[in-house]
Amino acid sequence: MNSIAVLPKPTTQRVFFALWPGADVAADLSKAGRCLHEACGGRRTRAETIHLTLVFLGEVELEKIDDLHTLAGQIRAYSFNLNLTRLGWWPHNRIAWAAPDKTPSELAHLTDELQHKLGGAGVSFDTKPFVPHITLLRKGFCKDKPLPEVHVEWSAEDFVLVRSVPSEGGVAYEVVGRWPLLQADEFPSLGSSEAR
Ligand code: 2AM
Repeated sequence: MNSIAVLPKPTTQRVFFALWPGADVAADLSKAGRCLHEACGGRRTRAETIHLTLVFLGEVELEKIDDLHTLAGQIRAYSFNLNLTRLGWWPHNRIAWAAPDKTPSELAHLTDELQHKLGGAGVSFDTKPFVPHITLLRKGFCKDKPLPEVHVEWSAEDFVLVRSVPSEGGVAYEVVGRWPLLQADEFPSLGSSEAR
């Protein structure tokens, strides 16, 4: 007699907070990824999954997920521009990336706020120092290769909560919440959440 294995329901979700670009910025970054790939080989990030991680949480208990939406809705941080002018490669994990020329203070504030609120809610996260980067290539080898030039401007107007789920090709990302960043002329207490 055949028996059907019933897998236990997952009790956690793998999640992270990120900046997620619009289609134009993603297309420009994807082009940079193609040039990197020509120089270094490896596996490119698909345009539709290009992002900048703000805080990586990893596996979070399902009952804590609502808390993430609540705390993200309480964040008051301003929008900012990212000047993506640097391409680089880390030998230790063989990731090739794009990065901004400098970290805007608003971006640093946004990640600080998220970490502060996560800590307050008792949610663990990766506490490695924040190094803003956008992974464009994995398993490439760029040592001693001249890297292409890049100049992409990204106006970050919101941030997102992303769930990563195993899929046939590796991993798929699903944006499960989105919150606006304040505009420069907006008074902080008037910010609102459009989550879910
Ligand atoms: P990476 O691209 O540099 O690997 C989903 O895995 C996202 O979370 C990726 O942007 C990844 O960055 C980032 N991330 C940060 N810390 C991570 C960790 N400890 N494990 C997996 N991904 C992490």
